[in-house]
Amino acid sequence: MRRGRIGGYRPAAASRRRWILGAVILGICAIGSGCGSSEETEKDSMRIGVSLYRGDDTFINNIRQELETCAKEYEQETGIKVHLDVEEAKGNQYTQNNQVERFIALDCDVLCINPVDRTAASAVIDKAMAGNVPVVFFNRQPVEEDMNRWDELYYVAVSAKESAVLQGQIVVDSYREDPSLLDSDGDGVISYVLLEGESSHQDSLIRTEWSIQTLKDAGVPIERITGGIANWERSQASALMEQWLAQYPDTIELVICNNDDMALGAIDAMERAGVSGIQVVGIDGTTPGLRAVESGKMMGTVSSDKEAYAQAIFTIAADKAMGKDVAEDIELENGKYYNCPQEIVR
Ligand code: BGC
Repeated sequence: MRRGRIGGYRPAAASRRRWILGAVILGICAIGSGCGSSEETEKDSMRIGVSLYRGDDTFINNIRQELETCAKEYEQETGIKVHLDVEEAKGNQYTQNNQVERFIALDCDVLCINPVDRTAASAVIDKAMAGNVPVVFFNRQPVEEDMNRWDELYYVAVSAKESAVLQGQIVVDSYREDPSLLDSDGDGVISYVLLEGESSHQDSLIRTEWSIQTLKDAGVPIERITGGIANWERSQASALMEQWLAQYPDTIELVICNNDDMALGAIDAMERAGVSGIQVVGIDGTTPGLRAVESGKMMGTVSSDKEAYAQAIFTIAADKAMGKDVAEDIELENGKYYNCPQEIVR
């Protein structure tokens, strides 16, 4: 597999050093007697409430695992106990709102929310503001108007435009190296189908637009056969691809997918139909996605740095919980946005 990294900021090392420094300060305070007045330095535990839009989403699960690792490492390095309370909202905003209420009732220091409905974040924000609990949103972006309601709101994600441009670049590079890989019938045009994520998700719209635009800008000849929404899901993508393979036999040369799970669904359908030679590109670099690239089933993916992603969420949350200045540990755009690095894997 080849990798080409974009974006370079990794908060991990810097913030880890600070955690250690924090632990040293705590240790000194415990031994000495002169610094008992600061609440910040006396705190020896924190409670973080995490609500995921769905627990069965592959990418979100990758982030969850990394978040749990961050919490464990932080505990080991600082001696500060982290209570990480992770809930799944099962695609229901009402359920998520109740989880937020429960977290606040449990005295969580900070909330990390992956909104079910990004346009309905205001209800979460109302509750958080009333309870004075900062919120780190991630992956599903609340509208700007909501993000501007309070200076204790943060958002961590991957730039959707950058993912799409890199995805387009995978195809451009492959085409330049060997046009026949993509234009298998040799008619001078790459015939593609497109698998899109949820229509309400900012990533779907932006990824679709910019991966196609990148191909056009590079002068790669393309022709869209059809496309459909498979809501990020492998099984839905597989069903759509099965239908398209039957409807357009010997025509499809490329499947552009808004994420890896849908790319894997397309590959499932191709395998079931006994079809080979169609190139598939994804986005995410999930564990199964990377495996598919390695085995040659997927032409390439754009892999986000899940460790840096989770580390950013955790660093903001831990700093908020400990009353520390977030800006000292992580560079945020407009004081509230963080985009994690990503790279091409092919
Ligand atoms: C990811 C998808 C995921 C979705 C969930 C997207 O950014 O690429 O894999 O299903 O977020 O919100």
